[in-house]
Order: sequence, then structure tokens, then C-alpha cells
Amino acid sequence: MPSPVIETIGLTKAFPGVVANDRIDLEIRAGEIHAIVGENGAGKSTLMRILCGLYQPDLGEIRLRGVPTVIRDPRHAIKLGIGMVHQHFMLVDRFTVTENVILGAEGTRWGRLDRRAARRRILEICDRYGFDLDPDLAVEELSVGQQQRVEIVKVLYRGADIIIMDEPTAVLVPQEVQELFDNLRRLAKSGKTIIFISHKLDEVLDIADRITVLRGGRKVGTVKAQETDRRGLAEMMVGRPVLFSVDKEERAPGEPLLKVEGLSLKSGERYLLRDVSLEVRGGEIYGIAGVEGNGQTELVEVIMGLRRPTTGRILLAAQDVTGLPVGRVRGHGVSFVPEDRHRRGLILNMTVWENLFLGRHRARRLTAGPLLRRIVMLGEADELVQEYDIRVGSTGQPVSSLSGGNQQKVILARELAGQPRVIIASQPTRGLDVGAIEFVRQRLIAARAAGLAVLIVSADLEEVLALSDRIGVMYGGRLVKEVAASETTAQELGMYMLGSTTGAKEARDHVL
Ligand SMILES: Nc1ncnc2c1ncn2[C@@H]1O[C@H](COP(=O)(O)OP(=O)(O)OP(=O)(O)O)[C@@H](O)[C@H]1O
Ligand SMILES: [Mg+2]
Repeated sequence: MPSPVIETIGLTKAFPGVVANDRIDLEIRAGEIHAIVGENGAGKSTLMRILCGLYQPDLGEIRLRGVPTVIRDPRHAIKLGIGMVHQHFMLVDRFTVTENVILGAEGTRWGRLDRRAARRRILEICDRYGFDLDPDLAVEELSVGQQQRVEIVKVLYRGADIIIMDEPTAVLVPQEVQELFDNLRRLAKSGKTIIFISHKLDEVLDIADRITVLRGGRKVGTVKAQETDRRGLAEMMVGRPVLFSVDKEERAPGEPLLKVEGLSLKSGERYLLRDVSLEVRGGEIYGIAGVEGNGQTELVEVIMGLRRPTTGRILLAAQDVTGLPVGRVRGHGVSFVPEDRHRRGLILNMTVWENLFLGRHRARRLTAGPLLRRIVMLGEADELVQEYDIRVGSTGQPVSSLSGGNQQKVILARELAGQPRVIIASQPTRGLDVGAIEFVRQRLIAARAAGLAVLIVSADLEEVLALSDRIGVMYGGRLVKEVAASETTAQELGMYMLGSTTGAKEARDHVL
């Protein structure tokens, strides 16, 4: 049996009001792909941050290749051969791949020669592990998947043989996930150890050798991927059986509440959106499918008033809101779950309760004198925290101290509680655990049952198919196909998403 490369014994880390890691005994073997799963707030990221030297444990021991070790900080971790690939990439956009890789690495302070040698080593690394990456391109020209490769090459360049990745697939499209997994398999084969976190249980079962489940800061167990399945894992995580599909009742949709007519958006000579028309009726969920970067983000930004369309109109109920600022659009009863929760969804250094009221703090019932307002808000915030199962010590904590999934729940709670008529949600369940996904999907379906118009944008086809009544596929800034969810399949949608020729031909017919 391969010896453990990392062992933790009784590892414990507490934050005010919560024990994030509670006496965790973990054993990671050399050359394995080891997945860590668990609910939002279970303590996964905390554990990884301890292993890469970002946090110090309060109690417990780490043994590295059998030797008790204190990992002082991330620099020390990398000296010890442990490298972390963060979810928010830390790359300099204008620098080339080579420049980014060598930035901050030792022995590269002198001019050209070094750079040439570095470039050669980067090519060697890419070649050896099958990374498709051009060392001379600027990072700003790379796709998300390629940027992630740069981050991985960066830690390999520094000599890491243990690579830690926190939700690496959350930001990738299915094709990129497969490429990443090919890379990871080759890394593991050559003796590198991979530890990674994911909420996507199918992926975990596909790529991992062994899986450790955390719940409420404790380790529930470690299982071999071959000896479990999605249901088994989900139950270990949540402590109860999880529904993977939500039932939707037949419902005759009502009046169109959101209408988009001939929307185009030009940036320079390029069309980011081209003649997009669609309508979402009350009691209907309309799903936008597409590979990221095909205009979905821009469509939502234009509808919300974050960008002004070049041509076209946006109607809410029957009112033209084209060009209105986002606050006014919201004033028409539109809730918005943005794709980029850090940039648009939250104010990170404000408290949880303040974030729960962002954008709706002027509501009448909340404005009867400052003191009363605060008491009412704090009370309501507690209710929302209960209802949405947001794992937080107190609502007075800064929202930045919440786990990733719990930050997403704060946004969802705020937006769904605001009694909207229209909900626009981008990637509503990204970063959420299986139990939370089930809950959010039920909520969106309840909104549909209550007669709201719901527009969701998701890169996850399974999600689009599970929730939507109708689905529009975006490709190259156009809505290339619109179908009833009951009359299509993931395969068919996938074909249109990739702009296949038959799909594209029909698309042209559709647009003309
Ligand atoms: N810097 C911090 N200050 C205060 N509390 C923190 C801090 N970091 C984490 N926590 C708390 O520790 C607990 C575990 O958080 P962690 O980020 O490890 O969860 P996670 O398993 O990664 O969840 P997710 O799936 O949502 O990313 C949470 O309750 C979180 O609020
Ligand atoms: Mg996390």
C-alpha cells in the first residue's frame, strides 16, 4: 500500500462562533487523486488553506512524508512541495504565460537568459503533462480553462508534487473539465498527488481515487470512488437522502412579463449580442443555455440596465425600460442573481445582514426611523438565515468570512425574498452543495408556481433541462435555437451550443 504523503492528526481550526475543522484525521497517499466533498461551510477550504500554509491550525499535527511539519506560510508550503491553485486566479493580465509563471519564483531576477531557460522549462512541463498552452501569449488572451492551466504550471514550475485545487471545475465548461481531468490523470500517473474540492459528485466519482467527506467541520469518512455512488455520497454529506430531480407541475403560462426585442450590443466592430428576441411569461422558467462567453453575460447585463444596448428594446410587463439604470429596473420588480458574486452581488467587507438588505433597504416598511429599521432588519436577517440555511456564526460577521457557497446563499435569499415579479438568475447554483441546489431549485419552481417570470442562465445543461419550460441556446451572441424543454435533450442542446453546422444553418434561418 502506498505510504501517506500527507497525514493530519486531530487537526482543528476554530473561527469566532464556529469550529471549521474539528479534529480531522486525513490521510492522502502519494500519487492519488483525492477529492474532498461536503456541504457549504463543512470546512473544506479551511482544511486546504491549512495544508498550504494560509492558516495555522489551533490544534493537531500535520505529517508530511511521515515527518511532523509546521507549514509556516504559502512560500514555505511550496518549498515543501505543496502548491495551491486558487479559484480566483492570481495572474497579471498583460503579462505573457512565461512571465506569469516565473513571477515571484526564485532565481529569475536577472534578464533574458533566465527567461529563455524558463520558457524552455515551461514547454517541457506542458509537454510532459499534456498541457495545451502557448508560453508567449498574454494571459488576457486566454480562456478561463487556459488561465487555470497557467496556475497549475506555475506550481509545477516551483517544484510542487502535491497540488491542491479548490473547486477547479466550477468555472470550467464541460469540454474544459475533460481537458483538466486528462491533465490531472497524467500528473497522478507520474507520481504527483492531487487533492481537490468539488460539489459536482459525478465529476468526483469520475476522477478521484478516494473521496473524503466532511460535515459540520468533522470528517464523516473516506471512501473509494469505486465503492460508492452519487446517492451514497450525497447522503454522507448531508446526512439525509437528497432529491436530484425536482418535480414541476404542468402550468399554463400567463402574460409575458419580460420581453426582449431585437437586442444588439456592439463593442467596436464586434457584435456581442445580435438581434436577440425572447419573452418570458408569468409562471414560466426560461433557460438560456450556452458555452460561457457567447453573449449570455451581456444579455443579462443589458436587461438589468448595466449596459446600454446598441439597438432593441426591453419591456417589463408592458413598460419600456430600455436604458434605465439598474436601480430603476429593479424598481419594476426585477430580482437579479449576478454571475460574479464578488463584483456585483455582495459588498464583501459589509456584514451579512447588511448584504441581505442591499438594494432593498428603502422599502417602506423598513423606513420608520433608523433604530426601528435596524431592529426590523436584524430580525428579518435572522429569519432569512434560518430559511436559507446560511451557515454563519452571527449576521454581524462580514460576508467575506462566509464560505463560498454560503455567500451565494446570501444573494439568493436577498433576491428571492424581495417579492419580485421577474427573477433573472445567472448560474444560480454555482458553488452550492447538493442539498442547497435542491433547495434553490425548489424555490425557483415555487416562484414559477406563484406566477413569476424566471430567466435563468446556466452553463450546466442538466440544470437548464431540469428547471426550464423553454430553452434558448446562445451562440456567438445570437439566440440560435429555442425549444420546449420537454422536446429536447442534452445532446441536441450541446450541438447547438457548439455551433454545429446543422445547428448554425438553422440558426441563420431562425434569425433571418
Ligand atoms: N476567515 C474566516 N473568518 C471567520 N470564519 C471563517 C473564516 N473562514 C472560514 N470561516 C468559517 O468556517 C466555516 C468553514 O468554511 P469553509 O470555507 O472551510 O467551508 P467550505 O467547506 O469550503 O464551504 P463551501 O463549499 O461553501 O466553499 C464556515 O462556517 C465559515 O463561515
Ligand atoms: Mg470553500
